[in-house]
Amino acid sequence: MCGIVAAVAQRDCAEILIEGLRRLEYRGYDSAGITVVERAGEMCRHRQVGKVEMLASALAAAPLHGGTGIAHTRWATHGEPSEANAHPHHSSHIAVVHNGIIENHEQLREELQAKGYHFVSQTDTEVIAHLIADLHPQSDSLTQAVQQAVARLQGAYGMVVLDAKNPDEIVVARSGSPIVIGLGLGENFVASDQLALLPVTRRFIYLEEGDIATINRRDITIYDQQGAVITRDEVEASGQTDSADKGGFRHYMEKEIHEQPEAVANTLAGRLDANHIGLDTLSPDAKKALLAAEHIQIIACGTSYNAGLVARYWFESIAGVSCDVEIASEFRYRDFVVRPNSLLITLSQSGETADTLAALRLAKAKGYMAALSICNVPGSSLVRESDMHLMTRAGAEIGVASTKAFTTQLALLLLLVTLVARDKARLSPAQEQQLVEQLHRLPELLKQVLAIAPQITALAPDFADKHHALFLGRGEFYPIAVEAALKLKEISYIHAEAYAAGELKHGPLALVDSDMPVIVIAPNNELLEKLKSNIEEVRARGGQLYVFANESAGFVSDEGMTVVTLPDCDAMLAPLVYTLPMQLLAYDVALIKGTDVDQPRNLAKSVTVE
Ligand code: G6P
Repeated sequence: MCGIVAAVAQRDCAEILIEGLRRLEYRGYDSAGITVVERAGEMCRHRQVGKVEMLASALAAAPLHGGTGIAHTRWATHGEPSEANAHPHHSSHIAVVHNGIIENHEQLREELQAKGYHFVSQTDTEVIAHLIADLHPQSDSLTQAVQQAVARLQGAYGMVVLDAKNPDEIVVARSGSPIVIGLGLGENFVASDQLALLPVTRRFIYLEEGDIATINRRDITIYDQQGAVITRDEVEASGQTDSADKGGFRHYMEKEIHEQPEAVANTLAGRLDANHIGLDTLSPDAKKALLAAEHIQIIACGTSYNAGLVARYWFESIAGVSCDVEIASEFRYRDFVVRPNSLLITLSQSGETADTLAALRLAKAKGYMAALSICNVPGSSLVRESDMHLMTRAGAEIGVASTKAFTTQLALLLLLVTLVARDKARLSPAQEQQLVEQLHRLPELLKQVLAIAPQITALAPDFADKHHALFLGRGEFYPIAVEAALKLKEISYIHAEAYAAGELKHGPLALVDSDMPVIVIAPNNELLEKLKSNIEEVRARGGQLYVFANESAGFVSDEGMTVVTLPDCDAMLAPLVYTLPMQLLAYDVALIKGTDVDQPRNLAKSVTVE
């Protein structure tokens, strides 16, 4: 989704800004732009529809020189992807880049038009530029004009504003969309994601909600929502944060699929000893809240939501705690009842998903006993605003289609569930020890699963010319089927649906014919016999079956059925094991179809608008 990079530097900043935009490309966008103050009072702008590389070419043809500049990748919300709608937006000597959505833009637009401002785009952002230009002449400073302007804005924003007449400073504001300041030596930077600035600094300050900051080459002054000067902590980027290269793989997604054994090992590191599960990064208070919870409410979006669906089966069957899972965008607009002693768990790779954050804020106000976030990005809004957090430690995930974030969330959720189950005496020491042994072997097991990659590659052509696909599973493998369908549709653009296999005859069976591949996740468990009946229902209608199962499930390939055999494993680990071939399948099909695997059309990595 939209990305921001800005600089007040002593050297020409255009290259730094473009490199920053490249590093944000993974978030998904459809146009890009840059404004640099070349001389006091004179700012120049390039904007392009399409990739950052096109903007880089425009810049190479007509370089921009100057140390103060702002740049942006736009993911269209108000107005089509076009040069006129791309940021930065200018009004007189003011230039603005903005992430988020201004909800009262229509009313402000009318007001500003009545005052004679001429709008050249369809965006909500252009109102910010005109509003600040309108307020600036009566204000003491650009900062004051921004403070007055944001008081008029409804909605979400992370923004950077510059005044070409005073190129020594930029002003940033944050409400609902992240902004991080990168600290340099005699120069400072701003971005919507620290990844953009790692080539120039590893020292960062995250703005809090409602903060406005004035930034020049040497100083940073931060004001809180009430306008009082405030200090925000400086944080150092960890060594592992900058993994933005493909490491010999064709796509980030492929790399991230193959990183899962290591990522899951990182998730588990220090949280297991030889016999026990411990989550020592949780404070005693947090552990107390977790163990006291009589109900768990999980909130998330996208792939993270699917991890929550798996956890619901686990919390109820293993730990004996009731658990609901809801999509954040539904939860936040619903009158919900908070059960007594309910713990809220938010799941998010990025920690910046607008709906998940809004749901967290709402839930805190509605009286959940505590909010725990399970997240992959340290310092993200979700982490900072939750009472407690657990990091998945998957490392940077760049591919829009989430892979290692999902399996690491599952690994961490499994630890949580086990901790609760042990506390409730639903897991004997011997059972715990057995699970711990299996968890120690999990990274190795995932490596073994990935070794079947060539087998999946061989199957992919069967899917590439299909328009639809159906995924079936039962129990905790139903959400794995949902996640598998999501992967396939996200990156191969094949319409894919997942059904709980028992629902087959209530509708989807009508779709089954030889053109509809049916993928079944069929480990040998207590539901296998039920699933076998569903498989027969498909077979009887001429459906092409692809069954993923372990050997003891007893499937044999024949004309209508291709069986992919996966290693035997502990039942609790099986959801992770069965996820990997699904990711590989989606990836291989997308490769054949020639789609933009890492940045599928219309999608964004981090959905910072609702
Ligand atoms: C977007 C991404 C998905 C992700 C979802 C939730 O749709 O493309 O991959 O699962 O957002 O994101 P989160 O960062 O909250 O897990």
